[in-house]
Amino acid sequence: MNDRHRLAILGASGHGKVVADIAIQTGWQELVFYDDAWPEKRHLERWEIRGTLPMLLHDLADYDGVFVAIGHNTIRDVKLEELMRHGATIVSLVHPRAIVSPMARLGAGSVVMPGAVINAFAELGRGGIVNSAATVDHDCRLGDCVHVAPGANIAGDVEVGRLSWIGAGAVVRQGVAIGANVMIGAGAAVVADIANDQVMGGVPARPLPSSPGASDIGEGKDDPPPGASNVLHLDLKSPKGRS
Ligand SMILES: CC(C)(COP(=O)(O)OP(=O)(O)OC[C@H]1O[C@@H](n2cnc3c(N)ncnc32)[C@H](O)[C@@H]1OP(=O)(O)O)[C@@H](O)C(=O)NCCC(=O)NCCS
Repeated sequence: MNDRHRLAILGASGHGKVVADIAIQTGWQELVFYDDAWPEKRHLERWEIRGTLPMLLHDLADYDGVFVAIGHNTIRDVKLEELMRHGATIVSLVHPRAIVSPMARLGAGSVVMPGAVINAFAELGRGGIVNSAATVDHDCRLGDCVHVAPGANIAGDVEVGRLSWIGAGAVVRQGVAIGANVMIGAGAAVVADIANDQVMGGVPARPLPSSPGASDIGEGKDDPPPGASNVLHLDLKSPKGRS
């Protein structure tokens, strides 16, 4: 029996579209979206948006799998936690043209996009995003809900704490430890360890002028990302380019 019949996707945004494409290419037959922008928003391209997260929790028995397609790391983590608590079957999605070593481990709810490479003995926590053409090399350990943005390269034996972002095109030197809730700016070169809650950028990476430092992360001043319309109460920082 085909166990990839109906997939529910939480988060009807640009990221959701890419996730839907990968789901179709990996054999899922029917996709239904849920998003807290419902009922104002009812369609994403050709797909129906059927309701909000509470409605998905109610409908869980209708689906063979559930995927959280929300780019914002903290929001993704919160929603995954809630779905798992309700017994959802959280699936991972790997694009047919990504390369994931059979000796690597992906946590539940992770997505690996076209052209990405995850090498032997790398380990990702739940809800990981390894975006288009990004690489995660041998023995790396990425915490829950880490996002490696398009074209970023993480060399071997690197540790990345939960909820951290490695920006597009950034490079991380082998053996470096990056803390939790860190934002590495696009194009950065990380050559030394980074503590928790930092915003870093440049070559070599240094704290950015806008870096809020440990005390300010979570004191969000920016708008929430698309698809997160009902989570304003989380008061999250959403730096430019986080989608
Ligand atoms: C690092 C980042 C989060 C900072 O965003 P921000 O807090 O809104 O920062 P601002 O745009 O206000 O810029 C603040 C300062 O940092 C500098 N800066 C911003 N991003 C930088 C980067 N990637 N590298 C070096 N310097 C950077 C700006 O030039 C500015 O410097 P100034 O004060 O001397 O003029 C953002 O620029 C970034 O790189 N995001 C990653 C985007 C990405 O990878 N997207 C992939 C989506 S899948």
